[in-house]
Amino acid sequence: MSAEKILLVDDNKGQRVTLESILKHSGFDVTSADCGTAAIEAAKNQPFAAALLDIKMPDLTGIDVLKVLKAHNPEMVVIMMTGYSETEYAIGALNAGASAYFLKPANIEQLKTLLKQAIEHQRLTEENKAMSHALREWSASLEEKVKERTRQLAEAQRITLNFYDALKKNFESTLEVLSIAIDQRDPLTASHSFRVTEYALELGRLMGLGQNELDKLRYAGLMHDLGKIEVNEDILRKEGSLTAEEYQEIQEHAQGTFTLLSKFKFKNDLADVPNIASSHHERFDGTGYPKKLKGSQIPLLSRILAVADVLDAITSKRHYRNAMSIENALSIVKRESGGHFDPECTSSLFRLSVSNFIKIHMAEHLRYLDTEDIVALEDFTLEDLQKAAETKEPTAKQMDLMRRFHKYYEGPVPAVYKDHIPPAPKFSDDIPAANC
Ligand SMILES: [Fe+2]
Repeated sequence: MSAEKILLVDDNKGQRVTLESILKHSGFDVTSADCGTAAIEAAKNQPFAAALLDIKMPDLTGIDVLKVLKAHNPEMVVIMMTGYSETEYAIGALNAGASAYFLKPANIEQLKTLLKQAIEHQRLTEENKAMSHALREWSASLEEKVKERTRQLAEAQRITLNFYDALKKNFESTLEVLSIAIDQRDPLTASHSFRVTEYALELGRLMGLGQNELDKLRYAGLMHDLGKIEVNEDILRKEGSLTAEEYQEIQEHAQGTFTLLSKFKFKNDLADVPNIASSHHERFDGTGYPKKLKGSQIPLLSRILAVADVLDAITSKRHYRNAMSIENALSIVKRESGGHFDPECTSSLFRLSVSNFIKIHMAEHLRYLDTEDIVALEDFTLEDLQKAAETKEPTAKQMDLMRRFHKYYEGPVPAVYKDHIPPAPKFSDDIPAANC
């Protein structure tokens, strides 16, 4: 758009032609109109930086034209002209948006200065509009770029996390398959590694461990008996007591676990997994193996595994005995608090819900679980279970607890309940005997 265009409106032909000629000679691009209607029509077709309006015209007054022009282009500078002084017109024009008021004949130099200022004002206004527009576009574009970059980063992060998650799942699947292979060397201890891991994780959660520690506990739990793949299968499956040499060979599985797991080259946070896994037979009182570590010398996660490992062993059927009564099993754990086990771990174990214990204990036989029992058993802990097993006068609540518990636990029903509660079906009857 040109900023030099001037609209000259005057019904007096002589004055109009003279002023048009002077302004054109001064470098202005002048369009002239002889009435208000023609002026409005001209302004519709092209933008003007300024308008010189005669106040008195036959069709429309200058003020009428002024209002239309300003409504059409608020930035236009409008200068009113008249042949004689009419104060009321002058005030009306200024109120309607006129920039100046001149008496004819106009002082040409003053008029030219005013018009140049009007054109400069118009040019600056246009530049300002263009810059504002460019700034808005740039800002919108920048905002869009930031959004796009943020989206790309989020996508990259999602892909990385998915990739890491897939790697982690893949790695965990490998460990799970390996743990199944370890346990299947002896059918009676099937799922032992899985159950020990799940008991340990429950204990870890009850003890407030973070996710990294729980991950380590999971890996160490699944792999804790890896060294058994080097133990003679006949010894593992042997019925009856072991010779000193055989017992020695079985004990060597702990060091074997360390040696084999070290080949996995666990890195960073997981670097101590081999040590955690291989320390699961250390005892809190320092009489365990392979290193006879004592108390806090034993990694906390190994102390947790020790409780979980023994809990599963004494609550499961073995070659040399049927499942132990829950009363005996829990009293062994409690008795060994501070001996075999870290007291903090045993006290956490007694806070484990009976519901979670049964779900893990029955890992091989989940299809037999009744949801109503599992929900009802959520209200009881192993501490409640032990009290119920030891009482001589069970309450109705304890009777209900033991009735639901012994639908799944194969160990003998305590004498005080025997007349009221049938023993559990022998879920493990189809599993041949072996030694652990
Ligand atoms: Fe072991």
